[in-house]
Amino acid sequence: MSDTSDARATNAYWGRDGLERLILDALAAAGKNIGALTIDDLAPADQFHSGGKGATERLARLAALRPGMRVLDVGGGLGGPARTLAVQFGCHVAVVDLTESYVRAAAALTARLGLSDRVTHRIGDALALDVEAGLFDVVWTQNSGMNIADKERLYAGFARVLRPGGLLALQEPMAGPVQPVVFPVMWARDAGASFLRAPSAMRAVIETAGFHVRVWDDVTEEVPSVAPTPAHSVQRIVMGQALDAIVQAGQRNREERRILMVQAVLERRAPLASSKPADLAQSTPR
Ligand SMILES: C[S@@+](CC[C@H](N)C(=O)[O-])C[C@H]1O[C@@H](n2cnc3c(N)ncnc32)[C@H](O)[C@@H]1O
Repeated sequence: MSDTSDARATNAYWGRDGLERLILDALAAAGKNIGALTIDDLAPADQFHSGGKGATERLARLAALRPGMRVLDVGGGLGGPARTLAVQFGCHVAVVDLTESYVRAAAALTARLGLSDRVTHRIGDALALDVEAGLFDVVWTQNSGMNIADKERLYAGFARVLRPGGLLALQEPMAGPVQPVVFPVMWARDAGASFLRAPSAMRAVIETAGFHVRVWDDVTEEVPSVAPTPAHSVQRIVMGQALDAIVQAGQRNREERRILMVQAVLERRAPLASSKPADLAQSTPR
């Protein structure tokens, strides 16, 4: 298994030219004032995951995000979740994504909303995070790990960049009790690019990487998959005509429990050595 992701394949699948212009034109056609955009105006076009902005807010509340927290959003796409965390929760967010056209469009949208002091965007691979160890309070990732086979490496990397006690907040599609998945799905035309595991297996991998579970919610029923999909939705802008087959398969995958959606918050355990004083303190007679 390669140590890094296939950047060429990722860019070929997800990437689109001129995305900022496409988004602004679609929002203008939907009646939005492009000269005074808000995160809510942008939400249909920049929150690229099941459940849209509502799902982002749900996960942020689940993680009890607070002003001043340093968040790394891995696979942050066009930056809708990151801008929401900055504006509504007061966080400072660094977004990393492998798709270059998303990073360009995301940075332009962040600048347009005057948020560049709180949200930054750069090209980077989730499997090779170029980030100082222990730097972040939170690793945030929403619908971004589906193309990644090496989950062990992915979550070990997340643990490395978090301070002890830091949080991993995730939303991920996972394999349901009924298999196989029906294709196409949003992230793959066929099984060759889709790497889902069952919730129990995912939980085991993440725990082994150094986390313990605070909350693990199956939100399949609560979080709508891809509908509605108006012309200014990110799903329509990126997938075009291909979206119709994706929506159809998505409904089947959800109804037949072939794909589940999980939101979870996990805490990075302290390394063993630094947990000793606390253990000793607890056993000291008072
Ligand atoms: C469905 S989009 C989700 C974007 C964003 N998290 C959101 O919810 O709006 C999936 C994202 O994962 C990114 N991605 C896929 N593989 C990646 C990798 N190995 N490293 C970084 N980003 C990756 C894609 O470029 C894309 O932006």
